[in-house]
Amino acid sequence: MSPVAPRAAQTAPSLPSSLASHEHPIKHYLSVSDLSTDEIRALLDRALELKRVRKPEDRPLAGKTAALVFQKPSLRTRVSFEVAMLDLGGHAVYLSPAEIQLGQREGVVDAARVLSRYVDVIIARVYEHSDVAGLAGYGTVPVVNALSDREHPCQILADLLTLYERHDTLQGLRLAYVGDGNNVANSLALAAPRLGMDLRFACPDGYEPDPSILAEALASSGGDQGSLELFRDPRDAVRGADAVYTDTWYSMGQESEADLRAPIFRRYQVNAELLSYAAPDVVAMHCLPAHRNQEITDEVMDGPASVVYDQAENRLHAQKALLLRLLGQG
Ligand code: CP
Repeated sequence: MSPVAPRAAQTAPSLPSSLASHEHPIKHYLSVSDLSTDEIRALLDRALELKRVRKPEDRPLAGKTAALVFQKPSLRTRVSFEVAMLDLGGHAVYLSPAEIQLGQREGVVDAARVLSRYVDVIIARVYEHSDVAGLAGYGTVPVVNALSDREHPCQILADLLTLYERHDTLQGLRLAYVGDGNNVANSLALAAPRLGMDLRFACPDGYEPDPSILAEALASSGGDQGSLELFRDPRDAVRGADAVYTDTWYSMGQESEADLRAPIFRRYQVNAELLSYAAPDVVAMHCLPAHRNQEITDEVMDGPASVVYDQAENRLHAQKALLLRLLGQG
């Protein structure tokens, strides 16, 4: 089957106009596009070093504090960032959805300005990408996107690390993403092709990754830069793949759509039959949390192809490398 043409691009979320032209010298990580290809490669190598030496003796983040501003629940992101700060000699302050109530009890402008007086880095999990962009625009310390409706760039660093440590390269790897074109898919699109990977999406009609992101990703693909293609039939995307990635069919905040989406996504389930179309040594990936036996079967999650717990662990190592870079120690 021929690849599906991406839909027309839409305008990407942007900062308020008063900030859009503001020259900001601080390095933020709101999108995988905030790191150059060389920076991602260097960060993955640093992450592998940090995986070998989990608690560096020189405590490079001694005296540094991170604020974790979370509007949504988390296991992996919260714990891996807190442990990363601790292992590097720093400290983290977790602010649950009930505490700041970003946009209700406290606006983004004041939260950004006040937190910048206390901490060295703000790590924010938000519903709307404009909120994390606003924290970056109004604060005076680095801001990390710990998941927004647009991207999940920290997850993708861990995913790339998981493939890199298995293959010693990312160049030429064939990655199939099957399911909902969500924030994880968006970040994969912005990272994988420019690292030389061939990325294939299989998504139901109307559930493709963000068109503006696909347009940006397509512009940076081709030649040595890898490729990006869209398919409807998951078997076409998975054929010969080195890795097959899936995620929940409905993200946090979309729970009311679960019954609507289940029949639409059913044929996109990652199961043993679908994996039989992939390369013999294929790995199965999921960023977790998973709805077992919905988007991915127990057989695959718990089987020999699964690298889902490596992905989860690699959040810690990749984010350490990221924090060191943003805080001038990388
Ligand atoms: N993958 C991921 O971001 O997990 P959490 O939602 O538990 O942080």
